[in-house]
Amino acid sequence: MSSPHIAVYGATGHTGRLAAAELRARGRDVILAGRDGGALKALADELGGAPVHQAALDDPAALRALAERADVLIHCAGPFTHTGKPVATAAAEGGCHYVDHALEQHHTKWMFEAMSEPARKAGIAMITAMSFYGGMGDLLAGAVAGGMTDIERVISAYAVSGWRLTAGAKKTAELLFADTQRITYADGAQHVGYVEPRNAVFPFPPPLGPRTMIAPVPFSEVVTVPRHVPAKTVEAQLTAHTFEEPEAFTSEDVDAGTRAGSSFTVAVQVITDKGGRAGQVSGQDLWRLSALASVEAAVRLTENPVGPGVYGPAEAFPAGPFLRDLERLGLFTLTLPEEEER
Ligand SMILES: NC(=O)c1ccc[n+]([C@@H]2O[C@H](COP(=O)([O-])OP(=O)(O)OC[C@H]3O[C@@H](n4cnc5c(N)ncnc54)[C@H](OP(=O)(O)O)[C@@H]3O)[C@@H](O)[C@H]2O)c1
Repeated sequence: MSSPHIAVYGATGHTGRLAAAELRARGRDVILAGRDGGALKALADELGGAPVHQAALDDPAALRALAERADVLIHCAGPFTHTGKPVATAAAEGGCHYVDHALEQHHTKWMFEAMSEPARKAGIAMITAMSFYGGMGDLLAGAVAGGMTDIERVISAYAVSGWRLTAGAKKTAELLFADTQRITYADGAQHVGYVEPRNAVFPFPPPLGPRTMIAPVPFSEVVTVPRHVPAKTVEAQLTAHTFEEPEAFTSEDVDAGTRAGSSFTVAVQVITDKGGRAGQVSGQDLWRLSALASVEAAVRLTENPVGPGVYGPAEAFPAGPFLRDLERLGLFTLTLPEEEER
């Protein structure tokens, strides 16, 4: 029997290249996929040879043929507002497992609402938001809140410095912040509508300390966390200084080494009326973390079946052990409450 094939759609982008290179470094069979055949061929040559599959978003037959060749498809092409539906639909039609990098709330909501039935019928697992933004908040919430009840609030707070946005990330951020129909989760229910931004300060542990935050930011954990944590309110926040750095939005063309210079802490507070618990990850290079999180998920899908359906990261895999495995790869330092370590 041949070894499982993992396809990377959007392989020519920064995240896709990191994911493809990691899969090759692990000796996995990878199919390089995307819309630009020439760029895919050049990447294949760089990686010492790999099968390529050209498929544009408006070519459902080619996308489906990709899904039929692959056992798992990692979707790295964004914005997912534009690319999400055709690729996810093709994965279900072609019968291959699916992992994506979306932080867009509406894509994630759509995945659960529209793709659950097709995923079940096709017998595939589809994991959305398996990345840095959205994904780390979801995984930490799962690891910190395990077994807790009567939860008032879950806050995932991202402190990011040196984020140099790619063309795809910049387009995604512009679409997200222009969207007036945001998803929030409050009083135990999902709401869609205009959200007034407010001043907030998040108390990161030392050495960061309290930081001014953009609150809320429209990230996907607002959709995924309530599916596995019984909280009344879920909110994501991002340090205000992240977007005040002048280079953040003028960095589409910087080299990969410069892009690797980001540093991050993601802290999650789970608050009850009697106190609460917190956990965090701190490390360098959010891009590498994003790519390797999706690779870890894809590899797991080839090794241990996850039942058919659509999942957020912490629904697909036990969150604490998954985070510990990413920590072992040197991606960050993880701090969890003591009881979660047992
Ligand atoms: N949640 C997170 O933390 C996280 C982390 C990493 C990435 N992401 C998301 O992943 C996406 C890619 O990010 P990136 O940094 O890798 O961006 P990038 O370096 O700009 O690469 C974008 C990739 O998407 C492809 N693409 C764009 N529009 C397409 C379309 N209409 N049809 C087919 N392919 C298309 C590009 O193909 P061409 O080369 O042909 O242009 C390229 O391969 C973004 O949406 C970003 O927000 C999210």
